[in-house]
Amino acid sequence: MKYSAAEEIVDKMTTEEKANLCDGEGTWHTHGVERLGVDGVMMTDGPHGLRKMVLCDGKWSTVHATCLPTASALAASWNREVAALAAKTIAAEAKAEGVSVVLGPGVNMKRSPLCGRNFEYFSEDPYFAGSFAAAYIGAMQACGVGSCIKHFAVNNQETRRFTVSANVAPRPLHETYLRAFEIAIAESNPDAVMESYNRINGRHAAEIEWLLDGILRKKWGYSGVVMSDWEAVNERVDSLCAGLDLEMPTSHGNGRQMIVDAVTRGDLPEEILDRSARRVLELALRRKPDAAPQRPDPAAQHENALRCARECMVLLKNGGALPLKHGERLAVIGNAENLRIQGSGSSKVAVGSAATNALAELKKYSDSIEFIPFESGIDAAVSAAKACDKALLFLGLPESFEAEGRDRTSMQLPAEQLELADAVIAAAKKTVVVLTCGSPVELPFADKADAILLTYLCGEATAEAAAEILFGKTNPSGKLAETFPLRLEDTPSYLNFPGEGDNCDYAEGIYIGYRYYEKKKLPVRFPFGHGLSYTEFAYEAVTGDASAVEVTVRNVGKVAGGETVQVYMAENKPAVSRPVKELCGYAKVFLAPGEAKRVKIPLDARVFSYFEPEIDDFYTPSGDYTLFVGASSADIRETLAIHVEGDAPRGVRIHRNTYFREVIRDGRYAPVRDLFAAAILPKAENKPEYACFGNTEQNPAVRRRMGYTLRQAVYFNPDCTEAVIQKTIAECNRILSEQEGKS
Ligand code: BGC
Repeated sequence: MKYSAAEEIVDKMTTEEKANLCDGEGTWHTHGVERLGVDGVMMTDGPHGLRKMVLCDGKWSTVHATCLPTASALAASWNREVAALAAKTIAAEAKAEGVSVVLGPGVNMKRSPLCGRNFEYFSEDPYFAGSFAAAYIGAMQACGVGSCIKHFAVNNQETRRFTVSANVAPRPLHETYLRAFEIAIAESNPDAVMESYNRINGRHAAEIEWLLDGILRKKWGYSGVVMSDWEAVNERVDSLCAGLDLEMPTSHGNGRQMIVDAVTRGDLPEEILDRSARRVLELALRRKPDAAPQRPDPAAQHENALRCARECMVLLKNGGALPLKHGERLAVIGNAENLRIQGSGSSKVAVGSAATNALAELKKYSDSIEFIPFESGIDAAVSAAKACDKALLFLGLPESFEAEGRDRTSMQLPAEQLELADAVIAAAKKTVVVLTCGSPVELPFADKADAILLTYLCGEATAEAAAEILFGKTNPSGKLAETFPLRLEDTPSYLNFPGEGDNCDYAEGIYIGYRYYEKKKLPVRFPFGHGLSYTEFAYEAVTGDASAVEVTVRNVGKVAGGETVQVYMAENKPAVSRPVKELCGYAKVFLAPGEAKRVKIPLDARVFSYFEPEIDDFYTPSGDYTLFVGASSADIRETLAIHVEGDAPRGVRIHRNTYFREVIRDGRYAPVRDLFAAAILPKAENKPEYACFGNTEQNPAVRRRMGYTLRQAVYFNPDCTEAVIQKTIAECNRILSEQEGKS
């Protein structure tokens, strides 16, 4: 066949029909082409459970669905199989509901803990977010449901989200903010990419050709649909030209008309419209809903949610107060009867059968519980705390604190909770804090509490899984995929979040999350990768090279448990500023008491690279590196010295403002060396005290002059004219091109 099926259809369509395809049908559908027998498809949120909305008698309602852990929780499992299980669970319901594409996952970086949607994002680490998302997307698409990765790109705050410009330099743009998308797209090829609301360096993301057409299509080879975030389109024709295929939701014909008019005027080449229409058609053809879909068994779906939740909770601290022992007198204080299980906004699920009552779950394990809800006040809580063996204090962020459309302004828990925590901890023999939130909070009482379990927002099985973990039926194995800083003022973007008006400067560059805290040597409350277990793991026989790390993990405790081995890397003597270390691999393993398993963690060659703006690409310097193998970013058990055979040294083009010192030692720039010798090298007789050094780099005068730029040679020698400098530059760049052409 000469054409693909979609191309054949496009050939038969009118301009109006093609423009129609590039506009949403209502809120959740794409258009079909009835005349040619093509149906549109349905897309719905969301990444943590299906949010299918139906219009009934003029009112929207959401179909009941299984509620899974939100992204920040899911990430804490550090288990790609858990990501896949969550995706499969959602996909099963999507199929049953005739939904072809699920709008998620979100892989934006957690630049600030204050971003209101952080609960919807995986991590502050691009490698982690990208590789984890790939597992999720791959599993969903293997079930026949398309996934739409979002929000592309540099969408890291909710304040003024439709207009704010993320002002970001090339290196953090590629290395920090685009990387997770790049990894996930390369590994799992999602059906769709949702561009973001914000602007990047002044331009709406939906209109940036270098981003959508240049990077996404040409550099990464992406061929799926690019759709707008809901109501994100600013100028429809500009966005179509940049590569935005589908406007969502429908703009009620406005966008379509603009496209048709632009084609008619001759301002928009029809091929551009054809290519976008083809992509939307390809999606519709690929993801035709099942004619007779199977409804998944609700009990099995809930079991999946529970299996996920068990792995997503993080035991942040344990001085021995957990697990709880049978027979202990417990005071359960706070919001235990109606636990928060999910975030709000577009990822909110209409939960079918959520057990949000942690109190009821705890009572399945203990008949010695006194319950003091918040409303009973501090005095009642204190007397219950005094009378019990252990106080279980349920704290957390209220739903209104973490929401789409607004950012937090503080990292604190509500003041009354902090007051209650101080009073209970002072009164009780032992206090276990159960913390329910979707993103980090300040924990001023952490040193005084005996144990802290972070439940995150673990979906409909939050209460069940928390009770299992508190009583030791399940051994916690979650680890943080984000740092818990000591205080807001310590965070990397503190001085530049959420920006001034419509400008937010990403002044911290590549240093977000642990990259920042480690570089600044700042103490944190709980480091990236941290999470405790009721057992302990020994790391033995660690071996590795640039392609993989192997380690034998042994469960040296008394209960079965899961451990995530983390591998970080650092270049020993980087020529540019690089983080102290960066995550480059991880794997989770489950072990019975006494059991040992050999774990192999492959390392992708790209993990050693950084983005080099001079060459507009990632670059891996050859040289010595260190691999750090550990249980968290702050609990490194073994380091390995390795050599990395990187990219051939790439020459930078030189120009009038190139510094001598940057190129003079490189043989490829011999003409610069000659210029330096002829024009700039100081005469020994002018500075007799330096004569003993000769014209070596030990000579302070020589060293100083290396700090001049090529154009400044004119000031040192009248024979060294602008023409001589230009000739030198041209000659160097010619040599360089020749050599690069040969290699
Ligand atoms: C959100 C998207 C979501 C869409 C549809 C937007 O406001 O930013 O993440 O998928 O709405 O609900």
